[in-house]
Amino acid sequence: MSTTARGSRRAEKPVGAAQFVPAEADLDTVRAAAAGCRGCDLYRDATQTVFGEGPADARVVLVGEQPGDQEDTAGLPFVGPAGRLLDRALGEAGFDRGEVYVTNAVKHFKFVERGKRRIHKQPSRTEVVACSAWLATELELVAPELVVCLGAVAAKAVLGPATTVGELRGQVVDRGDYGVTATVHPSSVLRAPDRKTAYAEFLDDLAHIRETALR
Ligand code: URA
Ligand code: SF4
Repeated sequence: MSTTARGSRRAEKPVGAAQFVPAEADLDTVRAAAAGCRGCDLYRDATQTVFGEGPADARVVLVGEQPGDQEDTAGLPFVGPAGRLLDRALGEAGFDRGEVYVTNAVKHFKFVERGKRRIHKQPSRTEVVACSAWLATELELVAPELVVCLGAVAAKAVLGPATTVGELRGQVVDRGDYGVTATVHPSSVLRAPDRKTAYAEFLDDLAHIRETALR
């Protein structure tokens, strides 16, 4: 904790992940190094780092927000309810799982405890920035054709804080090395009052991405 002139305490800026990223390493080495990341405080209460998963030569990288309760326990991204919905939609949209690498903007689970349950808490911009070196390294090493941001936290992590899902939906922004597009987060489909319609729209987005952005 730092102390300001007036004596109030402010959280210190996290050191960030960059210093934990090994130089000139392959994806497995980077994944192993991420297990020891102390770049922000989120590692303290979470079980483990949840790094991205999928082929190192994937054509598509999907970026979520952060691991959830089940991902934290399993050590793998998108294995809980949102992950099952995502898997189903990807399959129905014509994606080959072998062309997809799945990761998150933030690699540790952030939560609040309610009795025995751990309730997801959205990561702050500071935490997203602190963790960004892992995502940047994954994108550099996998070198996909397309990055699909799932929800606002991912879109802001990839393209900056002014980005919204609304403006990216149905569009591909050319970032030189790869294109970037976005759709909603699968958790928002699970929470939607009209889940059937929300799922149909999510599926439409993924099918459109599959047809137009990949040859
Ligand atoms: N939600 C995410 O954003 N990522 C996961 O890995 C699981 C749920
Ligand atoms: Fe490191 Fe990211 Fe975990 Fe923070 S959330 S400790 S930066 S891996």
